[in-house]
Amino acid sequence: MVMWGKIATFGILKSRTGNMDIPRKITNICCIGAGYVGGPTMAVIAQQCPEIKVTVVDINRQRIAAWNDSDLNKLPVYEPGLAEVVAAARGRNLFFSTDVDQAIRDAQMIFMAVNTPTKSFGVGKGMAADLKYVELCARQIASVASDDKIVVEKSTLPVRTAEAIRTILDHASPSSPHDEEFTSPDNPHPVNKQRRIPKFTVLSNPEFLAEGTAIADLYKSDRVLIGGDEDEDGQKAIQALVDIYAQWIPREKILTTRVWSSELSKLTANAFLAQRISSINALSALCEKTGADVDEVAKAIGMDSRIGPKFLKASVGFGGSCFQKDILNLVYLCRYYNLPEAADYWEQVVKINDYQKHRFARKIIDTLFHTVSEKKITLLGWAFKKDTNDTRESAAIYVALDLLADQAEIHVYDPRVSREQIRTDLQQACEREGLVPIPDTDKRVIVHTDPYEACAEAHAIAILTEWDEFAAYNWGQIYHAMRKPAYLFDGRNILDPVKLRQTGFQIHTIGKA
Ligand code: UDX
Ligand code: UDX
Repeated sequence: MVMWGKIATFGILKSRTGNMDIPRKITNICCIGAGYVGGPTMAVIAQQCPEIKVTVVDINRQRIAAWNDSDLNKLPVYEPGLAEVVAAARGRNLFFSTDVDQAIRDAQMIFMAVNTPTKSFGVGKGMAADLKYVELCARQIASVASDDKIVVEKSTLPVRTAEAIRTILDHASPSSPHDEEFTSPDNPHPVNKQRRIPKFTVLSNPEFLAEGTAIADLYKSDRVLIGGDEDEDGQKAIQALVDIYAQWIPREKILTTRVWSSELSKLTANAFLAQRISSINALSALCEKTGADVDEVAKAIGMDSRIGPKFLKASVGFGGSCFQKDILNLVYLCRYYNLPEAADYWEQVVKINDYQKHRFARKIIDTLFHTVSEKKITLLGWAFKKDTNDTRESAAIYVALDLLADQAEIHVYDPRVSREQIRTDLQQACEREGLVPIPDTDKRVIVHTDPYEACAEAHAIAILTEWDEFAAYNWGQIYHAMRKPAYLFDGRNILDPVKLRQTGFQIHTIGKA
C-alpha cells in the first residue's frame, strides 16, 4: 500500500537554521493553479508516477468541478490526448480540489502554477508581471505549512522572483515555535510537542510546453530545466525533482542550473521564439510589395541548419498567454537595470506583432473599397492557435476590434471557442485598450456553430486560426453562398490560393503578392 506524504516527514523537531527535512522519495505533491499549465503538467506527472499522490487545487470552484466532471469533454482545458491521461490517473493518484490549505499541508513538494498577467495598473503598468497571485500563494503556503516544503515555481516569472518567494516564505511563517499535537503510526495517541518552524526551499522549473501539443511536449520534452540553490538543501531539493522527471525523461535531458539562470532561460526562450515570428512577419510585408513569396523565403532560410525550419511561419501575428507578456517582462527588466538599447531591441518584437495584426485588418478594409461598414465579415478561428480553446492575446481579438471600429458586422466560427468567451474577450480588450464598449454587440458580433452558416452571404472571410478542418471545407459551396466579389483573406497561409482563385475567390494571403 502506498503511504501518502505525511509519514515521511513526521514529527521531527528542528530549528529554521538546520538542514531541511527533505524526504528521499517524494510521495505527495500539490499544484496551486489548475489552468493550462498546472492541469496538463500534473496529469502527466500523476500518470507517469503512480506512487506519487498529485493534488491540483484552485480557488476557482467551477474550474475544479469541470476537472472532476465525469464527462471528459467538459474538462476546462482542451488539449489533444489530455482526456485520456486524466481518465487514467484521476481518482487513482490524481485529484482536483478547492481545499488549498489541506493540499498544502499534506504535500512535500508544492508547485505554483498560478497566472502572472501583465500589470494593468501602477508601477510597471503594461509591462511588468503582476505577481499578486504568486505572492498570495507564497503567503498561504507559509501560513498553513507545518513541515518543510519544496516550493517549485512553474509560473513564468521575472528573474529573481524565487528570491522574493523565499523571503515571503521565511518571514510570513510562524516566527516562534508553539505547541501542537502529533501522532505517529507507532503511537496513535496524541503527544504534545513544540511545533517546529517549517523551512522552505524554492526551485525554478519553468514549463516549456506549447498549447495544442502540451501532452506530447510533456512526454517528450526537449529539455527539463530545474534551477535551485547551490547549498545542500537546494541540491537535495533539485535531486528530488530530478527523480520525478527521470521516471520518463532521459536523464541527459534534465538540466540543472542556478535559480536565476533557469528563470531567465524561460523568459528568453519565449523571446527568441517570438523574435523569429516577428522577423518573418516583418519580411512578409516586404514580400507582398516585391512579389517574393514568404513561404519560399522561409523554406530557404530554414534549410540552413544553423537557423532551422521551426517558428518561421508567417501569420496574422502571434498570440497566447506567454510571448507578449514575457517579452514585456524582459523589456521592463532591461529598463529597470538601465539598459535602454536592450529594452528597445526586445520591445520591437512586440511592436512588429501589433503592426502585423493591424496591417491584416487594414488590408481587409482597403480591399473592400476602403470600408467594411455594415458588411458581413466572417472570421474563421478565434483561438490563438489550432488545437486549443485558449484565446488569450489571440490575433483574432485585435483584428475583430479594428473591423468593428470600421462598423463591420462580425460573424465568428471556431470549433472550440464558445460565444461567451468571444464576447468576454472583446469586452476585456476594449477595457484594456481604453476603447469605448462595442455598441449593439448582439447585432454586431454573431457567433456560429456551423461554419457554412457563418460564411453564407459574407462579403469577406478571414482565416485567423490554422485549424486543420478549414482546409478540408467545401470551398466551392462556400463560394457560391457568398456575396461577390468573394474575398478571402488567409491569415495563416493554410489554403491553396491557386485552386481557390480558379474557384472564383479573390484571395489574399500573408507575404505573397
Ligand atoms: C501559466 C503560467 O502559470 C503563467 O505564468 C504562464 O506565463 C502561462 O501559463 P496558465 O496555466 O496558462 O498560466 O494560467 P491559467 O489557465 O489562468 O491558470 C491559472 C489558475 O490559477 C487559474 O485557474 C486560477 O483560478 C488559479 N489561481 C490563481 C489560484 O488557484 N489561486 C490564485 O491565487 C490565483
Ligand atoms: C509558447 C512556447 O512555445 C512554449 O515553449 C512556452 O512554454 C509557452 O509559450 P504557446 O504560446 O502555447 O507556447 O504556443 P506556440 O506554439 O509557441 O505559439 C505561439 C503563437 O505563435 C501562436 O499564436 C502561433 O500561431 C504563433 N506562431 C507560431 C506563428 O505565428 N508562427 C510560427 O511559426 C509559430
